[in-house]
Amino acid sequence: MRIAISTGGGDAPGLNAVIRAVALSAHHRGWRCYGILRGYDGLLCFDGVVPLGPEQVRGITHLGGTILGASNRGNPFRYVVRDPDGREREVDRSDELVAAFQASGFDALVSIGGDGSLAIAYELWNKGIPVVCVPKTIDNDVSGTLRSFGFDTAVSTATEAIDKLHSTAESHDRVMVIELMGRYAGWIALTSGLSGSADVILIPEIPFDIAKVCDKIRARDAAGRRFSIVVVAEGARPLGGEAVMAERRGPGRADRLGGIGGQVARAIQERTGKEVRTLVLGHLQRGGTPTTYDRLLALRFGTAAVRAIADRCFGVMVGLAGPTIARVPLAEVVGRPKNVPLDSDIVATARDLGISLGD
Ligand code: F6P
Repeated sequence: MRIAISTGGGDAPGLNAVIRAVALSAHHRGWRCYGILRGYDGLLCFDGVVPLGPEQVRGITHLGGTILGASNRGNPFRYVVRDPDGREREVDRSDELVAAFQASGFDALVSIGGDGSLAIAYELWNKGIPVVCVPKTIDNDVSGTLRSFGFDTAVSTATEAIDKLHSTAESHDRVMVIELMGRYAGWIALTSGLSGSADVILIPEIPFDIAKVCDKIRARDAAGRRFSIVVVAEGARPLGGEAVMAERRGPGRADRLGGIGGQVARAIQERTGKEVRTLVLGHLQRGGTPTTYDRLLALRFGTAAVRAIADRCFGVMVGLAGPTIARVPLAEVVGRPKNVPLDSDIVATARDLGISLGD
C-alpha cells in the first residue's frame, strides 16, 4: 500500500501528531506513506511529495504548525489563477489532481482538514479517490465529532489570555474586550470565557443587545466590581446586524472575520463612560505546542484513519464519539457546521453563573 497525506486549510496545533500517527501506523503495516506539500499544491503545482517514514516523523508530536506546510488557496475545484492583467479567477483543476494522484500510484488519501477541506475531500471521493478524513480546526465547528484537534490548545491559550487580562482590568477599573477566533461558531469564546470567568460572552449563535451588555457592566460597577471582562467571538453580531469582516478575499478563499471586538468596545465606552481596551488574540490561538488532550486526540485520529484504510472503509471521517473513534460518512458531515446548541449544558452553565450572553 502507498498512502498520501494532505493537510488542507489553515494549520492547527496537533497536525504534526496526526502526520506522525498516520506515518507510523502505515510503516508498522509495511505500507509506504507520503506527504503532499502545501495542501494539494505539491501534486498540482510543483514536485512536492515527500516520503514519510519513521525518520521523517521523529520528534514532531509536540510541535505546532505542520511539517507539510498549509495552504488555504489550494481548492482544486476552485483553483485561483492570476491572469496577465493581474485579475484573479477560479479554474477547476480537480481532474489534473486525480490524474496526478493516480500517476503517483497512491492507494488512499488521508485528508486532514476543517469544513472546507472535508468538502473538497468529499468531491474527490465522488471522483474516485479513496479518502479518509481527519477533523482539524481550532473552531470545533465540524459535525460528526465531539471535538476536532486544535480546539483544546486554542481554548487553553485564550483562557490564559483572559486570566492575564483580569489583573490589569481590575487595577485600572477598566472594561477589557477580548476578540477570539471561531468563525461562525462560538465554541472557543464560550469555553474559554467560562473557564476564564468572563462577565460577558458574545457568540454568533446568540445575537446580542448592546444595551444588555452595558446593563451587566453597570450592575457590576454598582456592586463594587468596577472592572469587567467581555469575551467576543469574531463571528458575534448584534441583534438585526451582520458579522463584521476584516477582509473580503475574493475568488477561492473564505472572507476573513474580524473587528467586532473594537465595535463592541466603542459602544460600551460611549454608553457607560467607562475606560475600555480591546485585545484581538488572533493567530496566537492557532500557534504553539498542542496540549496533551490535542496530541492524544490527534494520535488517536491518525491511527484510526489508517485502520479505516486497512478495512477499506473510504469516504468517511474519523470522529470522536464518547470513548471511541467512529467512522462517519462524509455525506453526513459536509455542509453541516456544528454550532453551539442553545439548549446545551454549556450555555445553561454560563447563564447559571450569571454570565451575560448579551440577550
Ligand atoms: O478556521 C480557523 C481560523 O483560525 C478561524 O478561527 C479564523 O477565522 C480563520 O481561520 C483565520 O484565517 P486566516 O489564517 O486565513 O487568517
